[in-house]
Formats: sequence, C-alpha cells, structure tokens
Amino acid sequence: MDRIAIVGGARLEGEIPISGAKNSAIKLMAASLLTDEPLRLTNMPRLADTRFLGRLLERLGAQVEERDGADGAETVLHTREIVSGIAPYELVRQMRASFNVLGPLIARTGQAKVSLPGGCTIGARPVDLHLEALRSLGATIDLHEGYVYAQAPRGLIGAEIVFPFVSVGATEHAMLAAVLARGETVLTNAACEPELVDLADCLNKMGAKVSGAGTSRIRIEGVARLTGATHSVIPDRIETGTFALAAAMAGGEVRLTRTRSDFIDTLLDKMEEAGVGVTRHEDGATIKRGGGRLQAVEIETDPYPGFATDLQAQFMALMTVADGESVIRETIFENRFMHAPELARLGADISVSGGEARVRGVAMLEGAPVMATDLRASVSLVIAALAASGETMVNRVYHLDRGFERLEEKLSACGAQIRRIAGDGEPED
Ligand code: UD1
Repeated sequence: MDRIAIVGGARLEGEIPISGAKNSAIKLMAASLLTDEPLRLTNMPRLADTRFLGRLLERLGAQVEERDGADGAETVLHTREIVSGIAPYELVRQMRASFNVLGPLIARTGQAKVSLPGGCTIGARPVDLHLEALRSLGATIDLHEGYVYAQAPRGLIGAEIVFPFVSVGATEHAMLAAVLARGETVLTNAACEPELVDLADCLNKMGAKVSGAGTSRIRIEGVARLTGATHSVIPDRIETGTFALAAAMAGGEVRLTRTRSDFIDTLLDKMEEAGVGVTRHEDGATIKRGGGRLQAVEIETDPYPGFATDLQAQFMALMTVADGESVIRETIFENRFMHAPELARLGADISVSGGEARVRGVAMLEGAPVMATDLRASVSLVIAALAASGETMVNRVYHLDRGFERLEEKLSACGAQIRRIAGDGEPED
C-alpha cells in the first residue's frame, strides 16, 4: 500500500485549482442509467471512487468513456440498455454510494437486485430511509442474504415522502427514482446540499421536471422518458475547504481557484473567527495566515448550510495548534472521531466523549507515523503534518485516493514537502 511522507514547516504559497465534486459526480454517473442516450459529464474528478462506480455501471450495461475535453477530464456514459439489474456485493462494498443505482434501475426496468452496502468506519450508516422512499414510490422491497430485491413491474408512482431527518443519500435516491414515476412526488425535509442541486440541474437538462432543489421541499413531476445531456460537475466544496484549512495550518498565502466560496461560507466564517485571513473571489478564495497563533473556536456539524461533517476532521487538525480549547460536536455520524487518537500521536491534546471532542491547543506538533482510517480522517493527518516538526508518515493512503485528486501534486506545487512512497503491492484490507 502507498504511503505519504510529509516534512512539516514549509509555508504554502501559490494557487490550487479545485476539481469537480466527488459526491456530485458519483450521483450524476448513476443518473446516466435513466436514459438510453449518452450523458456527457465535464469537469469530472478522476478518483478511485469514480472508477469503482464506472466498473459497476459497465456491469449493468453502460459504456463508460473517459477522455480529455476542452475543460479538463470528462466522462461519457451511455446505457443503451440495462443488460443486468444486479449490483453485486464486491462492487457495492467498495463504495457505499454505488447503492444509489437501485433507484434508477427500478425506475427504468421495474426491477433490481442490489447489495446492501453495510456499515463503515464512521458509523452504521443504514439505508432504511432510501428503502422507505422507494416503497412510497410503489416499489416492493424484500431483503434476502444481504441483497435488496426491488420490483415495480408496472412502474413507479409519484408520492408524498416526508423524511424523518435529513439524509443526503436518501433525498438523492428518491429524486433519481421519482423523475420517471407517474405523477407528482413531493420530498419534504429534503437535504439542501449543493450536490443535490447539481443532480436536479442535470436531471432537468435530461428532460426531468424537478423544482425546489436546494430547499427542504422538492417537487418532481414524473416524465415518461429522459434524454442525453451535457453537464459540468460543480466544484468540490470539501476539497476547497480542505485546502483552505491546509493553507491556514501551514501559513502563507494560497489562492483557491475554479471553485465557489459560497459553498463553504460556514467554514470560512469559522476560519476568520479563528484569525485566518480570507478574501472571497468570483472563482474561489484566498487564504492567508501570518506567523501568529490562531484562536480556538467551537464548531458543530450540521446538514448544509451548517458546518460540513466532511470538514470536521480537517478543522480539528487546525485546532490542535490554536490558542485555547476548542469544542467540536459531531451530530451527523456517531463514530467520526477516529482521527483524534492519530492526531494525538503527533502530540495533539484531544479528549473525546460521545459526540463531542475537546481540543486543547498545543504550541507545536511533532511528526510521527500515523494510520488513515477513512477519507476525511486521512487528509486531516496530512494537514496536521504540514505544521508538525520533522517527518510524518501517513500509512494506508488508499483512502485519500478515493476522494482527492492529485493531492500531493497540488500541495507540493505550493511548496509543501510531501511525497508518495509506492507500496509493495500488498492487498488492501
Ligand atoms: C453523504 C456524503 C458524505 C457526507 C454525508 C453527510 C456522498 C457520497 N456522501 O453521505 O460524504 O458525510 O452525506 O453530509 O454524498 N441515515 C440513516 N438511514 C438512511 C440514511 C442515512 O439512518 O437511510 C443516517 C446516516 O447513518 C447518518 C445520517 O443519516 O448518520 C446522515 O447521512 P446521509 O446524509 O444519508 O449521508 P450519506 O448520503 O450517506
């Protein structure tokens, strides 16, 4: 397995172009199953997760072509017909969001067999809300031997769906199925994440009738068929926030481009409160930090537009060297502090109790070998290492490759001392 070595202490100066959003790209790719015409996605990130999903879509009957377009990487997905309605365990296990092919498969063919994704390191992550939404749309759902068997031989029917709490995945899944249902669907207590708006925009280009995305009430008027379209993936707000935090941690001045600062307003406000210089631009933001120590600030994760849970680990890394005590509350996932003991290996002073972490800032972190446990936790270790004395070795970096495009390249272009050490080909666990 590859490792990443970082020698801390270098200030970051320069520009970092942000890639297309992973969490948008994978739902847009699933949307391609809804039509027999080609869907062309531009501003695509090239990541392990998009490759995993591409493989699954090919198994289901899609032709997936990755190519270089005028505006960077693009992917054309063309599913003339669904050749198999089965999404097997080996492929769904590799990436949870693969489960979202279930809705499009039932919507297009009236049947599907998709593996349950199972839990993951950040929590149990059940899919009960997804299944309930599909049942409301008229699908019959049975669970056997780890698989969901879904049927709607006479098609899906529009319905009123009230989510008991906000779920990004369940809202997207309901939308992906309801676009081809007969009649109107109303989603109440829907998630408002920008990736959801992006999905609605793309579906509308394909001929769907979705309104209200970005608010907690989404209306979908079902249509008989969808067509091909060309759609540019929105910028990755988690990558944007991660590099903003990396710049704040290392010090220096970094301009983040090809992105949108309004996607991470909550984070930028917190960073300013801590003493980081932030200038918002049309296509991103400049993050500036001089030599002084930052102030500890408190955060609580919440659905969008609240503080993103996917930036919590990275923010904690920044707080490990702030002046004072920072309280970090995680309200979305039950087990999302696995980075805390790894940060402690670098000298951080963190105590965790239930959904709350208290971070008492130390003057300096010290490099050490650490282990990445999930995608966001891995990158929080990279951020911490940028300001630690000596060398930090981050092991198990395959998590990083799932969600960050050319991370070492983007950071080293700004002066970070970071390099990848190729692994010995040992299998991943
Ligand atoms: C998505 C993002 C992930 C992000 C999360 C929250 C993708 C691929 N992933 O994940 O990066 O951290 O949103 O912003 O877009 N839940 C249930 N039952 C369900 C569905 C969810 O109990 O049927 C729970 C989850 O376990 C979690 C909470 O609801 O505790 C929110 O999860 P959800 O918003 O669905 O996250 P994902 O869509 O899985």
